[in-house]
Amino acid sequence: MTRDDIGRISALYDAYVDTFRTDGSLPDLMALKRTHTDNVVANARAIAAGEGFDARTAAVSEVAALLHDTGRYEQLRRYNTFRDSDSVDHAVFSHDIVRDQGWLDGCSPVERKAVLDAVLFHNRRDVPDGLDALTLAAAHTVRDADKLDIFRVLEERVATTDWRNDCAAFWNLPVKAAPNAAVLAAIREQRPVDYQNIRTLADFVLIQVGWMVSGLFYATTRRLTAERGHLEFRRRFLHELADDPAMDELCDLAAERLGNLQSTARM
Ligand SMILES: [Fe+2]
Repeated sequence: MTRDDIGRISALYDAYVDTFRTDGSLPDLMALKRTHTDNVVANARAIAAGEGFDARTAAVSEVAALLHDTGRYEQLRRYNTFRDSDSVDHAVFSHDIVRDQGWLDGCSPVERKAVLDAVLFHNRRDVPDGLDALTLAAAHTVRDADKLDIFRVLEERVATTDWRNDCAAFWNLPVKAAPNAAVLAAIREQRPVDYQNIRTLADFVLIQVGWMVSGLFYATTRRLTAERGHLEFRRRFLHELADDPAMDELCDLAAERLGNLQSTARM
């Protein structure tokens, strides 16, 4: 896969997204996904550069990042929701659309499979065992690049909504409420948080702290997370929501895992 392939696939993807425009513009929720995708691509490039990927691994990872949420547009059009539990698993849906559109037909079978698998696995709890090196790199790059942009999305939502008074800003989760002990325990023990245990906004924010503790695959992702101040944002935000010393303890653990870059920045 070459830079030319990326250009060709990007043009095909853009033409596909254009089919969801009315009067030249995308519905707002689709436009947010398009912006998210651009950011995930930029993050994937940064990870590839930071990790010193060879040109082919970098290209396959970038294309997988571009295509990872392809199904979001059709999901919204068809089901009027991004909630997978009320509609379709959007990773499976994205994988099937990318495959059926034939955008990867000019690539080698190995590259095509690596992109498709990285799209398919991007929202799974774990990446399956036994993947070849190319697929493994693409899959982990997309997952890390996606999380980096999800950090941004939370911060933007905090900045642009009246979340203190409007609980709809965060799916009606109680705003001023202590975290669930089960969430704290899972993060402390570096286990994935069971989403059933999310009861409060603090729980939701702590899930992302949990990613910083044990959910980011590449050192470059951890470095970017630290440089962008995502942990300190969450530490401050959590203090606005609840008053539980366990939250600081987990933020300290995350700081350690991010390379101590932020561990002295307590405020
Ligand atoms: Fe996704």
